[in-house]
Amino acid sequence: MKVLIVGGGGREHAIAWKVAQSKKVTKMYCAPGNAGIAELAECVPIGVMETEKLAEFAAKEKIDLTIIGPDDSLGAGVVDAFEAKGLRVFGPRKNAAIIEGSKAFSKDLMKKYHIPTAAYEVFTDAAAAIEYLKTSPYPTVLKADGLALGKGVLICNTYDEAVAGVKAIMEDKQFGSAGDKLVIEEFMTGPEVSVLAFCDGNIIKTMTSAQDHKRAKDGDRGLNTGGMGTFSPTPFYTEEVDAFCKKYIYQPTIDAMKAEGRPFVGVLFVGLMLTPNGPRVLEYNARFGDPETQVVLPRMENDIVDVFEACIDGTLDAIDLKFADNAAVCVVLASDGYPEHYEKGFPIEGLDTFKEKDGYYVFHAGTKLDNGKVVTNGGRVLGVVAVGDDLKGARANAYAATEWISFANKYKRNDIGKAIDSVQ
Ligand code: AMP
Ligand code: GLY
Repeated sequence: MKVLIVGGGGREHAIAWKVAQSKKVTKMYCAPGNAGIAELAECVPIGVMETEKLAEFAAKEKIDLTIIGPDDSLGAGVVDAFEAKGLRVFGPRKNAAIIEGSKAFSKDLMKKYHIPTAAYEVFTDAAAAIEYLKTSPYPTVLKADGLALGKGVLICNTYDEAVAGVKAIMEDKQFGSAGDKLVIEEFMTGPEVSVLAFCDGNIIKTMTSAQDHKRAKDGDRGLNTGGMGTFSPTPFYTEEVDAFCKKYIYQPTIDAMKAEGRPFVGVLFVGLMLTPNGPRVLEYNARFGDPETQVVLPRMENDIVDVFEACIDGTLDAIDLKFADNAAVCVVLASDGYPEHYEKGFPIEGLDTFKEKDGYYVFHAGTKLDNGKVVTNGGRVLGVVAVGDDLKGARANAYAATEWISFANKYKRNDIGKAIDSVQ
């Protein structure tokens, strides 16, 4: 069968790598792809927001299955555009992708269906938000309602900081129209866990757990980024936590979406905080995580195309998801200066070393081909992934593998997965 993958980051490279292992797949395309994906798929220069063009391409090439990576593409209705042409596509429709696209929607959903999350209020008016902040406890959390590239969350320690935050989001529109509405949320503490799950509209099956590192610098300092590294599984996600989440969070969310007339088909990413009072939902995403996917898929034992098809056909019940009893760590190699100013266009050396080694992977994020040579082309350049028998082994392997790669201004965090030292 012919498969199209939409996106061009490390997440899509990991998806393409996994799809390429399916015996069913004879030809793979990726739009727009990157230099790493180009080794597995034919890359086509169509942007992820060009929903009609993507659907026209899929119809013309008689693509059997399309997999959508990025949230903005889903929020723009790419799945609806494909379905309108009778094409098979994996991802939520626009009316279900709103679970990520609007924090006010997802908070109201959780409240209505009693899904555990932080207490909150929604505001459309800056003056009312500022009035509320006079009596709210601190720290407090401000969230722009819409998609803001993972940057629309401010944790404010004082009233003055919070007022400045409200003004930045609602009046100065620092995150554009994402700030038309504001959610003010109770501040919670505890380890964070990412759980990705396949959904067919009726049921949900979780993959293994993972943990991201969002801040740019060691010790969780510096600015928020798209994610500087991940590990899987996380020992904080115990069987007890899993049982709680299965009962009170995962299936209840899918049931709630169905009851609202917004059946969720695709990957639901549940961001959890394991608070002293139990697991709480921090956020939902309507897609695979980046860089969670890079550590979850190398541990998955199923043919992923079977799972995608079961989700589309509503037969996920028949799939037994299986993950290896090992661990994986991803260390992101970024351009120094990310997430602010950085240079690009530097040649990357050492990529071929990964081809000779089992259990080591390099997923491209911001790379491109320049006269046949792979060069840096973004803030997050590569995700270096290694598996191991346990997390410590996987971490040692991943860090050793980061040394195989060189490019000018290479930057990484040195403490990915360090949090596990306190529990293992
Ligand atoms: P979100 O985009 O909603 O996941 O928020 C981004 C990050 O902000 C999360 O990964 C947390 O580290 C932090 N955060 C979000 N909501 C809260 C909260 N209610 N309490 C404490 N930290 C939070
Ligand atoms: N790693 C967080 C995300 O994909 O949003």
